[in-house]
Amino acid sequence: MDDKNYEDFISTVSHELRTPLTSIRGFSQTMLASWDKLDDDSKKKFLKIIEEQSNRLINLVENMLSVTKLQTAKNNIILKEVPVKPALQTVVSIIKNQYRSNNFDIQMHDNSCAVLADKDKFQQILTNIIENAAKYSDDNSDITIKTRFSPDNNIIISVANTGIGIDEKDYEKIFTKFSRIDNPLTRKVQGSGLGLYITKNLAEKMDGKITVNSKNHLTVFEITMPSADIEKQARSVCSR
Ligand SMILES: Nc1ncnc2c1ncn2[C@@H]1O[C@H](COP(=O)(O)OP(=O)(O)O)[C@@H](O)[C@H]1O
Ligand SMILES: [Mg+2]
Repeated sequence: MDDKNYEDFISTVSHELRTPLTSIRGFSQTMLASWDKLDDDSKKKFLKIIEEQSNRLINLVENMLSVTKLQTAKNNIILKEVPVKPALQTVVSIIKNQYRSNNFDIQMHDNSCAVLADKDKFQQILTNIIENAAKYSDDNSDITIKTRFSPDNNIIISVANTGIGIDEKDYEKIFTKFSRIDNPLTRKVQGSGLGLYITKNLAEKMDGKITVNSKNHLTVFEITMPSADIEKQARSVCSR
C-alpha cells in the first residue's frame, strides 16, 4: 500500500469506527443523564440501538481482520472436498434466523455435488452472498439458490433475489474495499462495504470467481468453484 492509499484507508476506517462509537456514546450519555425521566420503552429503544451499533463494530473489526488475513491467506487455505448441499443448509439456517421475512429456496442439480475448497472460506463466501441477497431484497420475497455444473468442470452456485438491484456501471465498484452503492436502501441497512471485496479475493485464491448480473429488479450473483469430482478431473487430465 502506498502513502496515498494508506491515508485513504486510515481515514475510511476512522470514519467507519467513529459513526457507531458516536452513537453508542450519545445514547449512553442520554440514558445516564435522564434515567429518571425516561420511560421503559425509550430505555429499551436506546439499549437496542446501542446493541445494534456494537454488533456493527464487531462485524467491522471481523471484516477488517479478514482483509488483513487475505494478504497471507494463500498458506492458510486447505483445499478439500466440500459437499455443497450441507454447506448451503448450514449457512441458510443461520441467515434465516436474522432475516425471517424472506423465503429461502435451495435447488440442487445434484444432491451429492462437492467443490474443491477450504470449507470455512467457502462458507464465508456463501454467507456474504446469501446475506447480501437477504439484506438488499424486498421484504417477504424469495431468495433462490440453484446449483449447476459447468462444461469446464466447475460448480456454479447462483443466488437470486428481487430488490433494488445494481446498475451495470457499479458491477466492478461493489467488489472494491469499503464500496457501497448510495441508494435509500443501502442507507437504511448497515454494512462496511468489505463483504464482496473479501468474498471475491477468497474465491480467487481457491481458483474460483464471483460474477453479478442485475436486470429488471432481479439480481443474480454466481459463485464458480472447481468441482471436487476426482473421476471427472482425472478424465479431463487424460484427454488433454
Ligand atoms: N443482492 C444485492 N442487491 C443489491 N445491491 C447489492 C446486493 N449485494 C450487494 N449489493 C450492493 O453492493 C454493496 C457492497 O456489498 P458488500 O461488499 O457486501 O458490503 P455491505 O453489505 O457491507 O454494504 C452493498 O452496499 C450494496 O450496495
Ligand atoms: Mg455485505
